[in-house]
Amino acid sequence: MAPEERVGTERLLQTFERRFLASRALRSFPWQSLEEELRGPSGSKLLLDLVQRTARHPLCVKHPPSGTYVRRFLSELIRKHEAVHAEPLDELYETLAEVLATEESTQCHRSYLLPSGDAVTLTESTAIVAHGTTGLVTWDAALYLAEWAVQNPAAFAHRTVLELGSGAGLTGLAICRTCHPRAFVFSDCHSRVLEQLRQNVALNGFSLEPDMTADPRHPAVTVAQLDWDVATDLQLSAFQPDVVIAADVLYCPDAVLSLVGLLRRLSGCRKEQQAPDVYVASTVRNPETPQLFTAQLGQQAAVVLLQGPFALAEKSRGCRRPPAPRPQLWPLPQNIFPSAASQAPPGPSTNSLRSQRSHTVGTQATEVRKALQPAAAGRGL
Ligand SMILES: C[S@@+](CC[C@H](N)C(=O)[O-])C[C@H]1O[C@@H](n2cnc3c(N)ncnc32)[C@H](O)[C@@H]1O
Repeated sequence: MAPEERVGTERLLQTFERRFLASRALRSFPWQSLEEELRGPSGSKLLLDLVQRTARHPLCVKHPPSGTYVRRFLSELIRKHEAVHAEPLDELYETLAEVLATEESTQCHRSYLLPSGDAVTLTESTAIVAHGTTGLVTWDAALYLAEWAVQNPAAFAHRTVLELGSGAGLTGLAICRTCHPRAFVFSDCHSRVLEQLRQNVALNGFSLEPDMTADPRHPAVTVAQLDWDVATDLQLSAFQPDVVIAADVLYCPDAVLSLVGLLRRLSGCRKEQQAPDVYVASTVRNPETPQLFTAQLGQQAAVVLLQGPFALAEKSRGCRRPPAPRPQLWPLPQNIFPSAASQAPPGPSTNSLRSQRSHTVGTQATEVRKALQPAAAGRGL
C-alpha cells in the first residue's frame, strides 16, 4: 500500500474509532469511504482492524457502550462487508454473538478521545431524559465547549472555574485534564445527576477528598449541589470563581432568567475583584432564547459568538480571544454554528451585568432538527 493510502486508511480508522467510542449517531460515520476501501484488496484486513479499533477496543471492553449501539454498529459492518465480499467474516459474527449475549442496561459508557490520545470516559444514561432530567447524558454544546477549552487552555490555566449545570461532566473533565485550572467546581441541582457526576469524576482519576499527597499539578476538584433559583449569597460567595462555564442550559426563558440572575449574583460576590469570565455554549433550538439571554445580559456585556464550525466572529464589542483553531477532539459535523443572522445583537436592558464578560459559543441553527438529540445518543442509522 502506498504511504498516502496508508495515511488515508489510518484516518478512516481513527474517525470510526472516535465516533464509535463516543457512541455518535451511526449516520454520522463515513460509511461511503469505508465501502470504497472495502472493495480494495485489503478490504477484509481493514474490517478486522476496524473491529479491533471499535467493538474490541480496550476502552470498549473495559467500559462498554450500550449493547444496542454496538449491535447496530456491527450489523451495519456485516452488511457493508457482505455487499462487497461473498465470504462472511467469522470475527464479525463472533463479536456480534458476544454482544447479543450481554444484558441491556439503562446505563452505558461513552469515551471521548482528547487530542493527547487520553480519554474521558463517562457513565451516561441510555435514554435522553431519565429520572426527570436531561443531565444524565452529554449534549452537543458540552462537546463544543470542551473542544473550545482544549484549544484555548489559557482561559482556564491557574484559575478557579465554576461549571453550572454540569450534567454528566464531560466539559469539566476535559478542562481538568488539559487546561490546568487551579480549582474546578462541578455543580448541578439534580440529585441523580450529582450522584453520576461524582462517579464520573472518580472514574477519571480525580479525587473529591482534599488529599495532601495529591499531585499539585492536578486541580482541586469539588462537586457542589447548586440550584440557581435557591442558592444563597453565602453559598455563592464561597465559590469566588475566576471563570464560569455552562453548556446547554439556555433551553427555556425561565432557565435563561435564572441563569442571568445567578451570574449577576456571582459577580456581586466578587467584591473588589473583576467579574468572572463567562463562557456559555448553547445549541440554538429557538432563536428567541439566546436573544433573551443576550438582552438580559445587557449592553455592557461583550458577547462573542463562535460561528461556523471553527471561526470566531465578533458579535458586539470586546472580542478578547483569538479564533479557535480547528478542533481535533471530536469529529464534528460541518456548519455547526449559527449564522450571524440567526442571532440578534444584545438589546438594551436595565438588567445589565455591568462588567460581566460573557462569551456565547453557539451551536448551529440547522442543528435544530436534531435539537433534542444528545451528543452521544447513537440511536440507529
Ligand atoms: C441539558 S442538560 C446539560 C448538561 C451538560 N452541561 C451538557 O451540556 O451535557 C442541563 C443541565 O442543567 C441542569 N439545570 C437545569 N436547571 C438548573 C438549575 N436551576 N440549577 C442548577 N442546574 C440546573 C440540569 O440538572 C442538567 O444537568
